[in-house]
Amino acid sequence: MKLPQAQVAVLQTADADEPRRIDEVADEADLKPEAATRAAFELEADGLVAVTEATLEHYELTAEGRQYVYESLPEQDLYEAAVDAGADEGAVSMGQVIGASGLDGPAVDIALANYNRKGYGAIDSGEITADPDADAGGDSEMFALEAVADGRVEDADAEALSQLERRGLLAVSEETVRSVQLTDDGVTALMGGVGTAETVDRLTPELLTSGEWEDVEFTEYNVAADAEDVPHGKEHILRQTANRVKDTLVGMGFQEMEGPHVDAQFWINDCLFMPQDHPARTHWDQFALSAPDEIDDLPEDLVERVRSAHLEGVGPDGEGYHSPWAEDVARGLDLRGHTTSLSMRYLSGHEIGELEPPERFFSVEKVYRNDTLDPTHLLEFFQIEGWVMAEDLSVRDLMGTFTEFYEQFGITDLEFKPHYNPYTEPSFELFGTHPETGEVVEVGNSGIFREEVLSPLGVDCDVMAWGLSLERLLMLMYGFEDIRDVHGTLCDLDLLRTTEVLH
Ligand code: PHE
Repeated sequence: MKLPQAQVAVLQTADADEPRRIDEVADEADLKPEAATRAAFELEADGLVAVTEATLEHYELTAEGRQYVYESLPEQDLYEAAVDAGADEGAVSMGQVIGASGLDGPAVDIALANYNRKGYGAIDSGEITADPDADAGGDSEMFALEAVADGRVEDADAEALSQLERRGLLAVSEETVRSVQLTDDGVTALMGGVGTAETVDRLTPELLTSGEWEDVEFTEYNVAADAEDVPHGKEHILRQTANRVKDTLVGMGFQEMEGPHVDAQFWINDCLFMPQDHPARTHWDQFALSAPDEIDDLPEDLVERVRSAHLEGVGPDGEGYHSPWAEDVARGLDLRGHTTSLSMRYLSGHEIGELEPPERFFSVEKVYRNDTLDPTHLLEFFQIEGWVMAEDLSVRDLMGTFTEFYEQFGITDLEFKPHYNPYTEPSFELFGTHPETGEVVEVGNSGIFREEVLSPLGVDCDVMAWGLSLERLLMLMYGFEDIRDVHGTLCDLDLLRTTEVLH
C-alpha cells in the first residue's frame, strides 16, 4: 500500500496497544502537529487508525494559594488563636482573638467566613467559640493545596479542590488532547508493507507546461478535517445588531439623525418640558461637564418660546410649572442621558430646516446615565431613538410600529404598560420576555409628544416617539443574562467570539 509521507510516518509511530497523543507522535515522526493531526484524520477515514479526544484538567495555584501553602489558611490561624485564648471552653472576645491571630485587612473576613463554613466554631455578637473537636490542623483544603503544589493532585479530595477554585486559590484549565491508535486494519496494512506515495500537493505552471500533470498523483485534501482554531478580530455583536437595527429602520422609511454626545441641557431637558427642578436633571442621574460648562449659541427665539411654555404653559388654558426657569441652567453642558436631544434638534428645524409631515427619523447612538451597575444597567448604553411626524397619530400607530419593528428580530410577545413622561401624553413602556429566565424585561419607553413640547418647536401636527435599549434587545435576541458579559471590562471574550449572528 502506498500512502503520502505524513500518513506513513503517523502509521509507523502509532501503537496498536494503546492510544498515543498526536503531539507526541508528531514530535517523534518529525512532523508539525497540524500535519500529524491532518494525517491522523485521513488515516482514520481509511479505517487504519482510531482518533480519540480527551479533556485534561490542569491545576495551578494562584498567588494567594501559593502564599497559604507556605504559611497556613487564615481560618487555621484564627482557630489556633481562638483555642489559645480559651474559646474551646467558652465564648471569648473576637477583637482579642483577631489581635492575637496576626490577621489583618481582607484576611480577617476570609478567616471569619471560612471558620464559620467549616464549623470550626461559632461567631456571635462580637464573641467567638472554638469547637474542641474540629481538626483545623488536618484541614482538607490545606491538604489539597499542598497536593497541588507537590504535583499530586490525584491525592486531593474533589470537593476540596472545587472549594479552592471557588475561593480563588486554584485555577483549573482544560486542554483537549487527541490521540491515535492503530486499528486491526492498520496493523494488517503495516505488516503488508506501506510505502511512500510520491504525491504532488500543488499544481505549478511547470507541471502544466511540461504536461507532467497528466501522470502525477495529487494529494487528496480532507476539507472536513479539524483545523487549529485561530481567534480573529470580528465586528462586536452589539455593533452588528446596531447596524441591523439601522438597516431595518431605513427599510421602514426612516432617515438617520446625528448630533453631539455632549449637549446643552436645553436640548436634553428644557425642550422636553422637563422642569428645571426635576430630579432626573440632577447629578444623581446625569453627568455634567466641568469644562466647558456652558454653550452660548442657543436659538434665541426658541429659548424664549421654551421659557414661556415652562412658565405659563401653551394655549389659552395652558399651565406652566410655577417654578423658576433660568437660561444659564439651560445652557449647561451634560453628557446626554437620552438621544431625545437629537429629536428636539431635528424637530425644531435647527438641524436641517423646517420639516413637513409626514417625516420619520431615527438614531442608534450612545447615551450616558449615572446608574448603579447591575446585570441590566450600565453607565452608558445604546438607545434606539425614533419619531414619526404625521397628522392624526394614535397609540395604535405606535404599537403597530413597535410590533413591526420587533418582529424583524424574532420578538413577537411585546407587552405595553401605561407610563409617565413629562414630555409625552399618553406614554407607555414596552416589555419583552427573556428567552432564558422567562423574566419580563423593560425594553423601551415611548409616547406622543405633548403640546408643551411641540408648540414651542413650531410643529403643528402629531409626533409619536420612542427610546429603546439596544442592549436589552440583544438580551432578548441572544439570551444574555448579564449585560456586562457583552461590554465593559468584565465582558466574556469567549462568548463574543462564538456567538453566531442571528438573521
Ligand atoms: N427619552 C425616553 C427615555 O430615555 C424615551 C422616549 C423618547 C420616550 C421619546 C418618549 C418619547 O427613556
